[in-house]
Amino acid sequence: MLYAYGESPFARKRAMKFFVDTAEIAEIRELAATGLLDGVTTNPSLIAKSGRKILEVIAEICEVVQGPVSAEVAATEYKAMMAEAAVLKKIASNVAIKVPLTPDGLKACYALSQEGTAVNVTLCFSAAQALLAAKAGAAFISPFIGRLDDIGHDGMSLIADIVQIYANYPAIKTEVLAASIRHPIHLIEAAKMGADVATIPPNVIKQLYSHPLTDKGLAAFLKDWAATGQSIV
Ligand code: E4P
Repeated sequence: MLYAYGESPFARKRAMKFFVDTAEIAEIRELAATGLLDGVTTNPSLIAKSGRKILEVIAEICEVVQGPVSAEVAATEYKAMMAEAAVLKKIASNVAIKVPLTPDGLKACYALSQEGTAVNVTLCFSAAQALLAAKAGAAFISPFIGRLDDIGHDGMSLIADIVQIYANYPAIKTEVLAASIRHPIHLIEAAKMGADVATIPPNVIKQLYSHPLTDKGLAAFLKDWAATGQSIV
């Protein structure tokens, strides 16, 4: 079956999983406390931005979050990737090894998946690449919506294509992880298409709460309530 969420093909899937795309531990702690967080993704740029050592940051994140925490290899050759993956894997059992969608990355994906390690294949920009990652046993495929939009392509249609292709082959267990999300509409469209997971930057997660009618409605309720002179406790 395609998804690990239910036995019946007619069963509703569990809610879309939310990962946060950051290496900032304070933001991760804050989000973890909301109960919204199912996992974390990092990448070399996010680690660089944090100004911290990768092994320390990933260990700290894994103490806060029980779900998958993606830690990306920095090597580009198979053997070196496997050596880095061995170090990253030792940090915690919920570390998912992130590898780039290259021939060496997919070879590493296959080897790691065979030994039971969850692999997130990143930098996916085509449906063909997503099919290769699934065949290599990836736990997650990360198609980058925003970066495709940036060059005038339709990032959302890549998500639709991958979801459709994977659905044709029930043996595929790879989860579609919508990445490079820039605004709430990316997330909503990905959910409508049935993406399993979205990795969302903290600022976009904050935007998900906002609606001007919520603010306006609450202000009106509070004004009317104050006029009653009542208090509940
Ligand atoms: C995914 O895992 C990547 O870290 C991330 O979504 C990339 O997003 P960006 O294109 O905003 O850098």
